Amino acid sequence: MDHFIYRNGVLHAEDVPVPEIAAAVGTPFYLYSAATLSRHLRLFDEALEGLDHLVCFAMKANSNLAVLKLMGDLGAGMDVVSAGEYLKARAAGIPGERIVFSGVGKTREEMRIALEGGIRQFNVESEPEMEALNEVALSLGKVAPVAFRVNPDVDPRTHAKIATGKAENKFGIPISRAAEVYARAARLPGLEVVGIDVHIGSQLTDLEPFELAYGRVAELARRLRAEGHDIRRLDLGGGLGIPYERANSAPPLPVEYGEVIRRTVGDLDCEIEIEPGRLIAGNAGIMVSRVIYVKSGEDREFLILDSGMNDLVRPAMYEAHHDIIPVAEPAPGAERAVYDVVGPICETGDTFARGREMPAMAAGDLVAFRSAGAYGAVMASEYNSRPLIPEVMVRGDQFAVIRRRPSFDEMINRDTIPPWL
Ligand code: LLP
Repeated sequence: MDHFIYRNGVLHAEDVPVPEIAAAVGTPFYLYSAATLSRHLRLFDEALEGLDHLVCFAMKANSNLAVLKLMGDLGAGMDVVSAGEYLKARAAGIPGERIVFSGVGKTREEMRIALEGGIRQFNVESEPEMEALNEVALSLGKVAPVAFRVNPDVDPRTHAKIATGKAENKFGIPISRAAEVYARAARLPGLEVVGIDVHIGSQLTDLEPFELAYGRVAELARRLRAEGHDIRRLDLGGGLGIPYERANSAPPLPVEYGEVIRRTVGDLDCEIEIEPGRLIAGNAGIMVSRVIYVKSGEDREFLILDSGMNDLVRPAMYEAHHDIIPVAEPAPGAERAVYDVVGPICETGDTFARGREMPAMAAGDLVAFRSAGAYGAVMASEYNSRPLIPEVMVRGDQFAVIRRRPSFDEMINRDTIPPWL
């Protein structure tokens, strides 16, 4: 359940009619529901109730400061993957002790920033990274808390571009070599081993891969403890999928995911961290766009929108499905049509949906892309010199622009022409 519903014939975000926001900020724009974000975070807290745990929001999914502040105020930690994300989390008021630093290619500069600013743990993904972190920590007179991300070689059965836990992927240390790496880490004075980290992929719609991966992590934890390591924390990553196609998908619920966690690692008396991104933010956001033209092609109708693949890249990049619904609720029995829904960008990949059956639309109508709150705004670009679109948050009957639309001048003036040109 989310808080984007038709009321009195128009789509509302919580208690605000979407057309009202469109009139105030122009289209296209992203729109988030604070109530939905909070509710999704709570679902994970409830799923892990009774276990010592911290939900670290994977802010790569949505890193708007207002979203981070909302999460942080509810007690969430953050999973960050760059100095930029770390600094944004801090700017949103998240204390360092609630921030975990993931990512396969942290630079020494990024390590320094996090160590100086305060960090809960680094999820280290390779031996060279371990050596670098040890050196940076020692140079600062600090000890870095470390979990190693292990690669359990489990097929997460998701889109190839977002699978991370197979042996062929660039992520983590092969689980078969983990004991050796932990032994080496224990001898490095700049590191303190605190736990194990795993993340096998994103948009998982099946719990079995989690069960397999976490089982392997549990086995490793027992072995490492037997070898004298103080394994007291398990970071189980993110990845739980969401229903992108309302009509015919029902991925597992956080509570069921919580049961997998209890079953596999619940008896280890470890503090549990999880890093969900998509499930918290995905269905807490929509992208609102306007139909510019309805164009008749040789054998099909094109619905040409004012948003493009630069604003929401997921369909072009992952063949992802987003439900596209009219903002004005169609009357029962209203005419339906089949469209290729496209943006204005000069390439064919700028297609949001092919052969999509939906209510008949006309130029000027507003549409909403559902499930756009995660990996939407954060992946946007200014391709075709289209300024980034604004983000708006609703809470109850109020809304606020949480990132404004830059002016054309701002976009143009970021470039500089050298004096010799
Ligand atoms: N932790 C780590 C280490 C990750 O790499 C990711 C996602 C997450 C947590 C959060 O996963 P989630 O709960 O959101 O599934 N841009 C793609 C998704 C890329 C996910 C990358 N890593 C998309 O739009 O589908």
